[in-house]
Formats: sequence, C-alpha cells, structure tokens
Amino acid sequence: VPIAKIITIDGPSAVGKGTMAKRLASELGYHLLDSGALYRLVAVNALQQRLDPNIASDAEKAVQNLHVEFDDDKVYLNGTDVTTKIREENVSKAASQIAVHASVRRALFAFMQAFVKLPGIVADGRDMGTVVFPHADVKLFLTAVTAVRAERRYKQLSKHAKNVTLDAVFSELVDRDARDSTRDEAPLIPAEDAVVIDTSVDTEAQVYEKIMQTVRLGGILP
Ligand code: CDP
Ligand code: CDP
Repeated sequence: VPIAKIITIDGPSAVGKGTMAKRLASELGYHLLDSGALYRLVAVNALQQRLDPNIASDAEKAVQNLHVEFDDDKVYLNGTDVTTKIREENVSKAASQIAVHASVRRALFAFMQAFVKLPGIVADGRDMGTVVFPHADVKLFLTAVTAVRAERRYKQLSKHAKNVTLDAVFSELVDRDARDSTRDEAPLIPAEDAVVIDTSVDTEAQVYEKIMQTVRLGGILP
C-alpha cells in the first residue's frame, strides 16, 4: 500500500514559504496545505461575527461555525470570496492572536491530518514539521532578516491596497513574529531535523534549487 509523502516548510512571515510550497507542490504533483490560510479564515470569521480573537471562548466559537469552500485559487467563507481579504494586515494580526488558543489549534490539527492524501502533500506554516507532521519525509525551515521580509510583504500588499506603509508592515511583522515565537502552543521553532535555508540574499530560483536538493536527498524525485 503506497503511503502519502509529506514535505513541510515552516518559517516566519514573508520568508517565501507559500511561494516555494506552491511551486514544489505543482512540480511534484502533490497537494498543497496552506495552514496559515486556515488561521486567517478563522480570524476573518471572528472579525465578521464581532468576536474577539484574544478571548479563548470567542476564538472557539469562530472555529466551530466555519463554513469554508476552496475553489481553484479562491477561498470562500460563508459564501463570500475572501481570497484577497485574508491577506490583509489586520487579518494577519488577528490570525496570530487567534492561533494562540489551544482549542483553535486542536480543531485545525484534525482538519490538517485528514488532508493528507496520495501521492503526497506540501504543508507550509509555523508548526508543520514540529507538531502537525513530526514524521514528515522532508522538513525545511526558511529564515530571512526582518527588513528583507518586511520589504517583500510590503511589495505584495501595495499591489492591492493603496494605504499601506513599509513602516506599518515592518512593525506588524515584528509583533507577529514575537507572538508566534513566544506562545505556549506550538511556538515557531525549527524542528531538530529540519534543513534551514536563509532566503535573505538568494533569488527565488536559487532558494528553489536548494529546496529541490534537500527534497532529492530525502528520496523524493520529481
Ligand atoms: O508564505 P510567506 O509569508 O513565507 O512568503 P511568500 O508570500 O511566499 O513570499 C513573500 C514574497 O517574497 C513573494 O512575493 C515572493 O515572490 C518573494 N520572494 C521569495 O519568496 N523568495 C525570494 N528568494 C525572494 C523573493
Ligand atoms: O504568510 P505569512 O507567513 O505572513 O502568514 P501565514 O503563514 O498565512 O500565517 C498567519 C498566522 O497564522 C501566523 O502569523 C501564525 O500566527 C498563524 N499560523 C500558525 O500559528 N500556525 C501555522 N501552522 C500557520 C500559521
């Protein structure tokens, strides 16, 4: 019986996880699990229902009545297209606030484990290699200096919104990294067996080549 392969890509915000995960999944013909999108969806659900992402009982309500549909590259929450909305900065912040709660993490953990299917998955997030898929076949951890990551996120966001500033993006990113790294539940930390790749200087093509080398060493061939 064939067993689904699992590749995890963890790291802080705007380090290139999503871009690399998408490309890798497409090249390998694997399914893509964007775990951050799930936390973002719970956050939007909370905000729409005027629930406070910092309060555990509110967070629990937000994860319980979640009606999500994925369609190609789009995601719908309660029938509304929220593809662009889930990337907004206020949602990033609320996602990291809601991600602190054990009840939220537990609910999404079950969903993510059930997502595993043949021939394999590429999962990106914060705790894919440490908590959700500790037995993954290949584990990657991307890092980059904060200024570079803030610049990258600013570029992405300013395509859709006119009123974003680099300063605001920078401080939001620093706050969020601190919250994600210091929380009790599944803090952001490389798995002991993860291969760490610094993306501060390398181009996307160079980072992808390093990732592919690691994937091949892990016995997975495109
Ligand atoms: O998923 P994550 O938040 O880690 O980052 P991303 O949204 O995949 O990447 C942030 C931006 O950095 C994207 O616009 C990428 O095109 C860009 N980028 C990269 O991912 N890797 C590089 N080596 C250089 C730029
Ligand atoms: O794209 P970016 O790296 O900025 O964020 P994301 O991966 O979409 O994740 C948004 C937020 O969800 C993070 O700041 C974390 O607080 C939370 N998250 C998490 O706790 N665990 C994960 N596996 C993925 C995301």
